Amino acid sequence: MNLRCNEVLSHSRIHGHVLEIGTGTGINFACLHNNTRIIDYTGIEPNYHMHYYANAATDRWNIPFKVRLSTNSATNMTDIESNSIDTIIMTFVLCSIPDPLPKQLLIEAHRVLRSGGELHLLEHVLSDPNVKPITNSFQKLIEPIWTIVGDGCRFIPTGNYLDEMKTVYSKVNYENIEIPVPLLLIKDAIKGVLIK
Ligand SMILES: C[S@@+](CC[C@H](N)C(=O)[O-])C[C@H]1O[C@@H](n2cnc3c(N)ncnc32)[C@H](O)[C@@H]1O
Repeated sequence: MNLRCNEVLSHSRIHGHVLEIGTGTGINFACLHNNTRIIDYTGIEPNYHMHYYANAATDRWNIPFKVRLSTNSATNMTDIESNSIDTIIMTFVLCSIPDPLPKQLLIEAHRVLRSGGELHLLEHVLSDPNVKPITNSFQKLIEPIWTIVGDGCRFIPTGNYLDEMKTVYSKVNYENIEIPVPLLLIKDAIKGVLIK
């Protein structure tokens, strides 16, 4: 939560009309609830069953801004106008959608962002086979089971999707980080910002 709230979703970064892709249980409301720079929040979460938990999280955190949840897929956000969003946030979503959806999602996110708007993300990543060969092999071995346990989450080279976006967004910055969790399998991650 420290990484989420103080680095990826810090108040200095997240503001205005905010869109979250893959709201899930609403875990990120813990980072957003006291951000006075947020005007309103739209959560794109196709799994309707998650809306119950996300709504409960808005109550628990006493969210002061308007919240709207949508069951659309972020690959086709027909209910969001082009150039209308100041900040998009997305944590651990790209890993849970199959090809070619990650690319479609990032292009659709670009459409809804206003010029200069930012997409802030935190994602799991496949460990580099040259740096961590054992973890990499283990990730590949366990992936069929992990996909079931982790709500569709796979171990993928997320950086490749972001590199592809360098011709779409005006800036793509990301860095490889280690998440402070005891499980080696999910330690490697990427945090990044894509600017329209
Ligand atoms: C691994 S969970 C992460 C949830 C939450 N963001 C977090 O940090 O814990 C991935 C979420 O992405 C959602 N998701 C899957 N496909 C999606 C899509 N096409 N558009 C938007 N969200 C999607 C899933 O329903 C799930 O809630």
